[in-house]
Amino acid sequence: MASGSGVTDSPQGGAASPPPRAGVLCLHGSPRAGGNTDLLLEAVASGANSVGGQPRHLYCRDLDVRPCTGCGACSATGRCVIRDDMATVYAALDGAAAVVIGSPVYFLGVPSLCKGVIDRFQPYWARRHLLGIPPGALRPGALVATAGAPSHSVFSGAQRTVEALFEVVDITCKANLFYEGIDARGAITDHPTALDEAQALGRRLGARPSATP
Ligand SMILES: Cc1cc2nc3c(=O)[nH]c(=O)nc-3n(C[C@H](O)[C@H](O)[C@H](O)COP(=O)(O)O)c2cc1C
Repeated sequence: MASGSGVTDSPQGGAASPPPRAGVLCLHGSPRAGGNTDLLLEAVASGANSVGGQPRHLYCRDLDVRPCTGCGACSATGRCVIRDDMATVYAALDGAAAVVIGSPVYFLGVPSLCKGVIDRFQPYWARRHLLGIPPGALRPGALVATAGAPSHSVFSGAQRTVEALFEVVDITCKANLFYEGIDARGAITDHPTALDEAQALGRRLGARPSATP
């Protein structure tokens, strides 16, 4: 693909011009429904909603997303050859004015369901780093994460993975909300500040009128 061609195409193939970016996308990375990540992202969405920020939720656990096979097709085309629910994820992320990823720490990284979705952004990496397609306008994002261990250092793996994703999807990370020592489903509700902080994050991201950070 020549540089600049297809820059607005979906990595799964569509060629329509994208609508203006709007809303706060909350991408739920936990396999556990009603868990700490879900509660935090519901607070983010509530904050965004309170300022007209149009939150939208996507749950990795509800998506039919196959793993990247490393076939290399996207290195030449900037598009993924796999046809599945990633089309929804690409469209949602491309169209969002702000993106919040919520994830628990699993073995010092993100859960496999969430990592599987992130890996499927390889076409964006290829566009940027192999095909010479320049970055688009930056928009704000954030990572919200919980971990059972009582140590802040357990978040570094998940943080680096999400930073790598953000770099290729034109997102500048505005906040990392990390809560350690949170294990049982719903334990985050006992945290003195977490849900308020998540709500404030949603307000901050939702109040942004455009895609500019
Ligand atoms: C498979 C698995 C792996 C985990 N690995 C870690 C880990 O490496 N470090 C840690 O601190 N907590 C770990 N945890 C605990 C979760 O991060 C913690 O319970 C988190 O709050 C769950 O969030 P959720 O309710 O949104 O799923 C693990 C939990 C599971 C089920």
